[in-house]
Amino acid sequence: MSSFPEWRIREARREDVPAIAALTEEFSAYLSELGDTSEFRLDAEALARDGFGPDPAFRGLVAERSGEVVGFLLHHPGYDTDQACRLLFVVDLYVTAAERGRGIGAALMEEAREVARTGGAKQMVWTVYRHNALGRRFYEGIGARNVVDLDLMCWDVL
Ligand SMILES: CC(C)(COP(=O)(O)OP(=O)(O)OC[C@H]1O[C@@H](n2cnc3c(N)ncnc32)[C@H](O)[C@@H]1OP(=O)(O)O)[C@@H](O)C(=O)NCCC(=O)NCCS
Repeated sequence: MSSFPEWRIREARREDVPAIAALTEEFSAYLSELGDTSEFRLDAEALARDGFGPDPAFRGLVAERSGEVVGFLLHHPGYDTDQACRLLFVVDLYVTAAERGRGIGAALMEEAREVARTGGAKQMVWTVYRHNALGRRFYEGIGARNVVDLDLMCWDVL
């Protein structure tokens, strides 16, 4: 795991759930302000159930500074049949506003890249809200490219 003088990145643990839930609330408020009308449901109960139960749907990384969680990234594995390779899906990335611009977001992405490599994945993929200019600039800044020839579709099951 990466280690820096003031903060470090480590794997998320069940006891991080309240801190991640608090950051998730900040993230939801940020997206709502940008006009995202999604109903954000990722609270502490959902995080504990789906991330830290017997059959986790995702895993996480946290950025910790003086024992306090100031950022997080959630991810889960996937597969791309066109490229015949494993993927790592990033499902959330957030750094609290006061801690931005110090390399934490990039370090969370780099650590996820290491998780992907270790797990045999060749690519990381994620979605970004179209009006989240800050997020888009950050991703372009770290060298990610926009997928222009695919549309995201969904179909309700329940
Ligand atoms: C996007 C986000 C995670 C970046 O975290 P961060 O800790 O501030 O990012 P870093 O400090 O690691 O920045 C890494 C690089 O991106 C650049 N960068 C960061 N934010 C940027 C911005 N708004 N515009 C342009 N460049 C930016 C930094 O300058 C840095 O470049 P450098 O290495 O050349 O100096 C953070 O701003 C955030 O949580 N935003 C709200 C949630 C969000 O948008 N999440 C991602 C979309 S789902």
